[in-house]
Amino acid sequence: MNRFLRYFFLFIFSTTSLISYSQTVQWQEIHPGIWKAIVGKPDNYNLLKAADTQPSAALKTLNKAEFPLDKAKISVQVKNGKTYLRFPLVKNEQLFGFGLNFKTIHQRGRILQLHADHYGNTDNGRTHAPVPFYVSSLGYGVFVNSAKYIDVYAGSNVRKDSKTPPNIQDRNTDDSWDAHPYSDAVEMLVPAQGIELYVFAGPKPVNVIQRFNLLSGGGCLPPRWGLGFTQRVNRLYTSEQVKQEAAAFEEKGYPLDFIGLEPGWQSKSYPCTFEWDKTRFPDPATFVKEMDAVGVKINLWTNPYVSPDAAIYNKIKPFTGSHTVWNGIVPDLSMPQASKILFDQFEKEHVKIGVSGYKIDEVDGYDSYVWPDVATFPSGHTSEQIRQTYGLLVQKQSFEMFRRNNRRTYGLVRGSNAGGSSFPYVIYNDNYSHEDFITALINSGYAGVLWTPEVRASKSGEEWLRRFQTVCFSPMAMINAWSSSTQPWTFPEVAPQIKALATLRMQMMPYWYSEFAKYHYEGTPPFRGMSLEEGFVSDLKTEKTVQNLEENPYEEAIMNEVKDQYMAGEYLLVAPLFAGQTSRKVILPKGKWYDFYTGQLAGNGEVITVSSDMGQIPVYVKDGGIIPMMPPLLHAPKAGEKVNLEIRHYGEKNGNYKLYDDDGETFAYEKGIFSWREIKVERQQNGELKGSISEPENGKPNTVGTVTWQFMTK
Ligand code: GAL
Repeated sequence: MNRFLRYFFLFIFSTTSLISYSQTVQWQEIHPGIWKAIVGKPDNYNLLKAADTQPSAALKTLNKAEFPLDKAKISVQVKNGKTYLRFPLVKNEQLFGFGLNFKTIHQRGRILQLHADHYGNTDNGRTHAPVPFYVSSLGYGVFVNSAKYIDVYAGSNVRKDSKTPPNIQDRNTDDSWDAHPYSDAVEMLVPAQGIELYVFAGPKPVNVIQRFNLLSGGGCLPPRWGLGFTQRVNRLYTSEQVKQEAAAFEEKGYPLDFIGLEPGWQSKSYPCTFEWDKTRFPDPATFVKEMDAVGVKINLWTNPYVSPDAAIYNKIKPFTGSHTVWNGIVPDLSMPQASKILFDQFEKEHVKIGVSGYKIDEVDGYDSYVWPDVATFPSGHTSEQIRQTYGLLVQKQSFEMFRRNNRRTYGLVRGSNAGGSSFPYVIYNDNYSHEDFITALINSGYAGVLWTPEVRASKSGEEWLRRFQTVCFSPMAMINAWSSSTQPWTFPEVAPQIKALATLRMQMMPYWYSEFAKYHYEGTPPFRGMSLEEGFVSDLKTEKTVQNLEENPYEEAIMNEVKDQYMAGEYLLVAPLFAGQTSRKVILPKGKWYDFYTGQLAGNGEVITVSSDMGQIPVYVKDGGIIPMMPPLLHAPKAGEKVNLEIRHYGEKNGNYKLYDDDGETFAYEKGIFSWREIKVERQQNGELKGSISEPENGKPNTVGTVTWQFMTK
C-alpha cells in the first residue's frame, strides 16, 4: 500500500472510531416534565432497579413542561468502556444536591466521587447517601441512574472547546486572578458502557425535587407514632431496665412513642444472630406486648452481617459474598433467596411478636470494615454495585415485610441512595458536629432522603438543649443513648425547657403528619433548604446588584451558602442556635414573617439578629401560615382516636392549609382510605379573621375532635 493510501485509511479509521463513540441522546418524556434517555449499553443493575418502586400516580397530574435544557449542549460519549457525560451551565447558576453532604450546600465548582460510605469529615462524595442527582437554581434537575462510583466535576474544570470560556488573566499583574476559572459544564464519568439518564423540569427548583421523589413513589408516609419522641437505650439494657426507662418517661411527663434497643438485645452482635439474648430478654413476646400496652413500641438495632452462630447461617451462606464483615457473612440482598431467608427470620422472630421497626446499621460501609472492592457476590453484581445499593435493598425488603403485615414502620438506616424516598427510614451517623448535622438536614431535602440530627451526649446543659431543639424540628425526634445512657432530664438545669420542647413536638403532630403526607403524595421534602423557598433567592441576576452588596445585607446574605437555617414544612423557618451562641443572624425571605411563639412581626426580606433566651429555638412563620396543633399527649393517638385541634394562624394574610387524615398505622391509605380537609382563615368585612374547616368526607377517616382557633398575630 502506498504511503498516501495508508494515511488515508488511518484517517478514515480514526474518525469513524471517534464518531462511533459519540452518542446521540434520544430523550423520551416518560411523565409530564420527566425525560429519560438510554445511551450505549447501560449496566442491567442500577439504583432504581435496586429500589424497585412504582412511580407515583401523582406524576400524571403534574404540569406539562418544556425540556429545560438545550439538548444540543448535552453530550454523552462512550469510550474505553466508560461513559463521559456533559451538561451545560450558565453564569449565576447554582447547583444543589449530589447526595447527603455535611459541610456544603452549593455544589457548583466541586469535585466528588459518589461512593456509599460513612461520612469522613469532608464533602468528597463519600457519604451515606451518594445520590447522583442535582438540582439547578434555574429550575431543572439531572439524575444519573447508575450503581457505580461516579466521578463528578460540577463546573470545576474548563474545556478548551468551551463556547463561553473564562477570561484569561495574568497572575503577575492581575490581583483578581482566579485559581478556579469559570467553567460552563458539569461533567461526569461513569465506569459503564452506557447510561440511563433523567432530566426533570421545574419550573421552580422545588418542583424538580417533587418530580424526582414522585418518580420513586413519592416520599415516605410514617405512622403517626413515628413522629413522636424516641429514645434509644444503652446497648446492654435488660427488658426490666427498658420497662423502667419507659415508666420514668411516663412518670416525669415526657412523651415517648418508641424505644430503640441497641446491639445487646441480640444473643451475639458484630456479627449478628438476629435472635434475642435470653439472659437480658427472657420473654421477648411478653416484653414487646407489655411495652405496647403502655404506648411504647420497640425498634431493634441490627446490621445485616450474619454470625456463624445465627440459626440462618448455613441456609443463607450460599447467597453471601466472598468476604466477611466483622467475621459475619454478607447476604447478597440483590438475590431474592438471600432476602427471603434474612427477612423471614426477622418476621418470625421480631415482627410477628409486635416489633415496630429497625435501625439498620453499617450498610453504608466504611472501607476499614466493609467488604472490599475485590469482593464478589453470587448474583454476579460487582462489589461496587452492592455497596452503592445495600442501603436501598435493606430498606426496600424490610419495608415490604411490614407491608405484608399491614403495619407501617418508621426506622433508621445508615445508607441510602436515589430511589429510596418512599422508604420510611431516616439516616443518622456517628459524626457529632451539631453544625454539620443541620447542613445535612438541609441537604437531605435535595437528595430525596431524611436525616436526623440525633442527640447523644453533651458537654453542658446548654449544648444538650441546643441539640434537643433541632432534633424536635427534624424527621425523627430522638435521643440515641446507646453508649452515653443519657435521658432527656440528664441536665437538670435545662430539664423544664427540654420537657416543653418534647411536648411541643407532640402538639405539632397534626402539622408534621400533614407535611409528611405532602412528602408522600406530592413529593415535597418536609425539611429543606432556603433556596427552595419562594421569595428567598430574589433578583440576583444583574452584576449591578452584586456590586451593591455592601449596601444590601439581605442580598449579600443570600449570595452565600445558607447552611444554618431551613424550612420545616410549608410554613416554618427554623434558625437553630449552637452551643456558645447567644445571638445569630436569620435571613427572612421576601414577605412578612412572624415569631412562632408570640405571633409578632419579625421582618420581611431582611436579615435580622435574634438573641434567644435559653428556652427557645428561633422559629418563624410565613404570613398567612396555619399550624394545626393537638393537646400535649404523651403518646401518638391510636388509629381512629379523635383529638381536639387548636389551629393557629399567623400574620395578616388569609391562610389555607390541607390537613391530612388516615388511620395512621396501616396501609389502608394505599387503597384510598384517607382524607384531606381544607382549613381556611379569611378576613371578614368587619376586619376580623375567621377560621373554617371543611366537613369530613363521608366514609373517610376523621380523627378531628373539637376545633379552636388561635389568631396569633394581634
Ligand atoms: C454504630 C451506630 C450507633 C450505635 C452503635 C451500636 O454503628 O452508628 O448509633 O447503634 O453502632 O454498636
